[in-house]
Amino acid sequence: MRVIITESPAEVATIAADMIADTVRGKGEVSIGLATGSTPIATYKELIARYQAGEISFANTSVYMLDEYIGIDRADENSYYRTIRREFSEQVDIDDSRVHSPNGQASSVAAEAARYEETVRAAGVSLQLLGIGSDGHIGFNEPGSAFDSPTHRVILHPQTVRDNARFFSSIDEVPREAITQGLATIRAAEHPVLLATGESKAPAVAAMVEGPVTAHCPASILQFHPNCTVIVDSAAASQLLDREFYIAAEKQRRARTS
Ligand code: F6R
Repeated sequence: MRVIITESPAEVATIAADMIADTVRGKGEVSIGLATGSTPIATYKELIARYQAGEISFANTSVYMLDEYIGIDRADENSYYRTIRREFSEQVDIDDSRVHSPNGQASSVAAEAARYEETVRAAGVSLQLLGIGSDGHIGFNEPGSAFDSPTHRVILHPQTVRDNARFFSSIDEVPREAITQGLATIRAAEHPVLLATGESKAPAVAAMVEGPVTAHCPASILQFHPNCTVIVDSAAASQLLDREFYIAAEKQRRARTS
């Protein structure tokens, strides 16, 4: 794992935006994976600013979402389908037809999960942006998720329901189930880039980077990925035992490549 520790959440967004820009620039057709939630919003804002400044175009980019709540109307502002359009794709030159997500209102959830798995696999995701839940989830792969899972139906952990209640008018409105890319689907991406900011993510970040690889912290499976980058601010990095080493290694890496 390449662990990049920054001074601030703004710097996390700048570095993530640089990586996304490098992925989509001058490459022909490209598929990227995106996450919703609070953490990547600053990165999306940074990319929108670069697009508005004429520095970047996403005309060649297709987007694949990680997950979607089950039972929520796609037009609902809290659906992830709506969220990514509002926060990002509608503000840049990504056509709606290029934004893909599981349909949480499909009559057969199993068939929809299988369809989405096939779609994502066929696309071949290059960079996959990820956040991490305070319980160690990526996508909505909650503690106990199978490492080999494809896209599937999940029951949200009570911690996730509590964490996500801030987006709804009451906790009772938070859906209890979702369709998510599985851990195997996420691992198939060429370059997973996980972002975490703030002290509340520090225990999950430490478990993911330095803990044992265990289904109890699903993000820890990323330790097996040969090309995974973790970008965290100093608060989210505060429980990492080897943070001085990660900082020094990154400095050395940059000196080598500059
Ligand atoms: C969102 C997703 C989740 C979030 C995670 C962190 O599509 O898949 O794994 O990335 O719950 O959410 P925030 O960034 O809101 O703390």
